[in-house]
Amino acid sequence: MLFKQRFIKSMSFALCAGAIAAASSMAHAATFRVAVGDGAGSAQHALGLKFAEEFKAKTNGKHDTKMFLNGQLGDEQATINDASMGLLDFSILAINNVTPFSPTVGVLTLPYMMQSLEDAVALTQGDVGKELTENTIRDAGVRIVGWTYTGFRVLTNSKKPVETLADLEGLKIRVPQNEIMIDTYRAWGINPTPMAWSETFTGLQLGVVDGQDNPYLTVSAMKFDEVQKYITDIRYLFSIEPLIVSEAVFQSQPADVQQAILEAGQTATEHSAKWLVEQEDKIKAELTAKGMEITKPANGEKEWMEKAVNQVWPKYYDQLGGKDKLNTILKSLGRDTI
Ligand code: MLT
Repeated sequence: MLFKQRFIKSMSFALCAGAIAAASSMAHAATFRVAVGDGAGSAQHALGLKFAEEFKAKTNGKHDTKMFLNGQLGDEQATINDASMGLLDFSILAINNVTPFSPTVGVLTLPYMMQSLEDAVALTQGDVGKELTENTIRDAGVRIVGWTYTGFRVLTNSKKPVETLADLEGLKIRVPQNEIMIDTYRAWGINPTPMAWSETFTGLQLGVVDGQDNPYLTVSAMKFDEVQKYITDIRYLFSIEPLIVSEAVFQSQPADVQQAILEAGQTATEHSAKWLVEQEDKIKAELTAKGMEITKPANGEKEWMEKAVNQVWPKYYDQLGGKDKLNTILKSLGRDTI
């Protein structure tokens, strides 16, 4: 919270300073820097590769991008700060790490809000996505220009198979610094450990925490199979990961480059949805072959869902624009209202 307050205080200065810095450096720069939280082979990496290819082609080779994988340019949350100040051009990061800077984005981390890839595409590509993009420009000085569709976050741990909420007892589970996700685990009966993404592998390796949740594609790309044994195939959160551009950098570009960024982002987004469908089952099989054991949550996940929805959603109605707003979203997905 302190970090967030400091961030908001520094925003006006940062945006001005960033705009000036970006305007002077971007006039000459042909290669844009892209921070990527995850490693090679991840959905973030695949989105970045497609974006790079399209962006270069659309600018006739005049502009290029260079990706820095595995958080080399800083932790995912830190990259938002840098991009807002115009010190970094692009970042690809999980949506849960954007929420602390632009609270309404939290609608995309509400447990069980998105129940399929189709829900994720509908929300990000429709009116909700447009509004959240405007909100992140206003709140955080960054513009969302693309999305990955990375799949449901599954729970992994090194200690035991987990099927019921009672099985969670005694496990130390890492969560991102995201209030909605922290509250979800509390609703499930445990106090999770908030930890930066860049520290998570080491935290699991050293036993500071026993488990975490992330999609199959991320578990594989980050080599979590080396430090985790058990997977619970829960579907509480469909992971989407925006490609953001510093608004200062974006505004300093001529119209044709801005257009190339937007179009390349859209093409990369569409590619990401196809990529997930092609990859997920294969990756799941590879993880099993490497010795991970997959357990289904008991009773079709009923208890997990009821606890999370009943206890977490009401707490966030105001922050997310009110119950009516959530009902409009639910209706647009063809679901029952609350
Ligand atoms: C997180 O758990 O912090 C993110 O989902 C990590 C990621 O970017 O894949």
